[in-house]
Amino acid sequence: MAYYLLVFPLLLLLCAPSPSLAQPFKAVNLGNWFVNEGWMDPSLYDGMPNNDLLDGTQVRFFSTRLQKFLCSENGGGTILVANRPSASDWETFRLWRINETYFNFRVFNKQFVGLEDQGNKVTAFSDTAGNPETFQIIRKNDDRSIVRLQASNGQFLQAISETLVTADYVGSGWDDGDPSVFKMTIVNPNAIRGEYQLTNGYGPDRAPQVLQDHWNSYITDEDFRFMSANGLNAVRIPVGWWIACDPPPKPFVSGSLKALDNAFTWAQEYGMKVIVDLHAIQGSQNGNGHSGTRDGYQEWGDSNIQDTVAVIDFLAERYANNTSLAAIELMNEPMAPGISLDTLKKYYQAGYDAVRKYTQNAYVILSNRLGNADAKELLSFASSLQCVAIDVHYYNLFSDSFSNMNAQQNIDFIHNQRSSDLDTVTTANGPSIFVGEWTGEWEVNGASMQDYQNFAKAQIEVYGRAQFGWAYWAYKCAANYWSLKWMIENNYIKL
Ligand SMILES: *[C@@H]1O[C@H](CO)[C@@H](O)[C@H](O)[C@H]1NC(C)=O
Ligand SMILES: *[C@@H]1O[C@H](CO)[C@@H](O)[C@H](O)[C@H]1NC(C)=O
Ligand SMILES: *[C@@H]1O[C@H](CO)[C@@H](O)[C@H](O)[C@H]1NC(C)=O
Repeated sequence: MAYYLLVFPLLLLLCAPSPSLAQPFKAVNLGNWFVNEGWMDPSLYDGMPNNDLLDGTQVRFFSTRLQKFLCSENGGGTILVANRPSASDWETFRLWRINETYFNFRVFNKQFVGLEDQGNKVTAFSDTAGNPETFQIIRKNDDRSIVRLQASNGQFLQAISETLVTADYVGSGWDDGDPSVFKMTIVNPNAIRGEYQLTNGYGPDRAPQVLQDHWNSYITDEDFRFMSANGLNAVRIPVGWWIACDPPPKPFVSGSLKALDNAFTWAQEYGMKVIVDLHAIQGSQNGNGHSGTRDGYQEWGDSNIQDTVAVIDFLAERYANNTSLAAIELMNEPMAPGISLDTLKKYYQAGYDAVRKYTQNAYVILSNRLGNADAKELLSFASSLQCVAIDVHYYNLFSDSFSNMNAQQNIDFIHNQRSSDLDTVTTANGPSIFVGEWTGEWEVNGASMQDYQNFAKAQIEVYGRAQFGWAYWAYKCAANYWSLKWMIENNYIKL
């Protein structure tokens, strides 16, 4: 016991933030700056041709002649057929965009549609996409949902019969009876719009300039002045794994590192702290556009740990001695069950060790898994580490349970359920808790200004009890209530 009494104050000292490190943090997420989220600023996609056909867009092809859907039989690994009266997973193709009109089609089992042995038969055998797996989508002028698909042999894909799909049609008609004409439907319009879709959508000629302009204008010195003048003392900055590569693999482009340096300079200028959040991870930790995914598959796993730790190592080395660094968050929103707890802990331990090579007092933030009911699953693991916070995200959104709640019920939910959620994860000698994302938006229709004010106030009050603090999502957003800047300027939120 005496031993612990001696050791404890020591640990607290080590962990103790430098005098200017003012926990709990009142922070805001600089979302959509270095990791694009299309919905937050749709105008960024305006200059892009065929911007409804980006990477990860899911499409279906309906033969107007046979009145049946194209289908990768068995979900992939064999032939294509054209015999399905209705469409589901096997009739859905995920686009990989080559350029504005050329694409690969990825099927349910992840193979690519292509020409068998360079012949004319259309199959879904190949695990990789090359020339035989590339098709041009030619859209009809006066109805862009009507398409013909030109294969790499120059000929058009046709549904000859319900069980025979080939790429040997040479005609050029557009009428419904033509076996090469399909009606294309988009299953998930705009659902995946992230850094991959933005950069690959513009392509290597235009993306570098578009992104550079965005980085330079989206957040500036003036924004840091505004934030600090309005009661914020930290920023959480989502970054993508490519920030550590120069040049990064295509389609990502260089320059975000330099812009992140600017954030540190401005933070120092206005006395704010920076939480660097590895938000987009190679392989994708949750399948969402903001994870940097190409097509929505969540594929991050054990084999990615080493590369991901290298990104953390890079960021830690670069910013460890910077007085503005508050924390490095190892991974945003890993998704269960795709990512197992064992794999995640293995990564978190290695990422933690990487940060500790360079700094003892920067916090390391571990994000709880989404899609897992046990909010305490990281607590005992985290208790063995020093200066660690667990990141929990609290939205009264994204679940049917909120769709029928009125304003007062939402506010009560914060005071009751969220408050108890927070108590559940808060332990005496365990990690600090960080409500790293929350927002003033909700499912209530026609809410008054007063309702919004009360909702935000309730959250600031409850999340203000989190030891490490909170971070609003986001600073800037085309949707007003998601924008803390807008909320402050329009008197919805006062800190
Ligand atoms: C688009 O990609 C295809 C296939 O690689 C290529 O043949 C074509 O020239 C490209 N078009 C443009 C405009 O870059
Ligand atoms: C940080 O500063 C310490 C003390 O000045 C120095 O020993 C260390 O090498 C620096 N670390 C980095 C990553 O620059
Ligand atoms: C922190 O990093 C920024 C950007 O590199 C730099 O301008 C600033 O001087 C650094 N501050 C310290 C104390 O190292």
